[in-house]
Amino acid sequence: MEKTNQELKREEEIIQFKVNGRDYQFTVGRDLEPQETLSSFLRERLGLTGVKVSCEQGACGACTILLNGESVLSCMMLAVEADGGEIVTIEGLNQEDEVVNSFVEMCEPGFGTAMQCGFCTPGFIMEAHSLLNKNPNPSPDEIKEGLSGHICRCGCYHGIEKAVENAAVLIMKKGVESDV
Ligand code: FES
Ligand code: FES
Repeated sequence: MEKTNQELKREEEIIQFKVNGRDYQFTVGRDLEPQETLSSFLRERLGLTGVKVSCEQGACGACTILLNGESVLSCMMLAVEADGGEIVTIEGLNQEDEVVNSFVEMCEPGFGTAMQCGFCTPGFIMEAHSLLNKNPNPSPDEIKEGLSGHICRCGCYHGIEKAVENAAVLIMKKGVESDV
């Protein structure tokens, strides 16, 4: 099939974005295909396999990353659409990350665990960051609502909500301590 003028123009484009603090520059058509999704690009080309892919239809939240501080479903956008943006994946969070640590603290098996197989966890963690960026002190209902686009097949919803509640407290405490 012949390529349209728009597709040919796109193929010559250079796109740039930052991923986990590192600058990248790619030539469309050489380094990435115009139709390549951001999730596939991050996983297959940059090796960031913490970005999970399940439904590829925007229905499960597993592929959630941060783009300019806001959560996005990376399976639902093209890599070229991230041009000029700043991306953070689970690999870009530091070891002291309060949200990660809250999930780790609540990973004991049994009722109330926030993490069983862990497949959904990166997506929930990135969503929690987006939520807490916008609303540092969310109510339980606001947490539930903020996480509602995510599916956990292990059914850890209760523990996940508690972990996010706990992370909000830890982030607030850290803010108070750094102000002292
Ligand atoms: S893999 Fe992107 S929403 Fe399910
Ligand atoms: S912990 Fe297994 S899917 Fe959520």
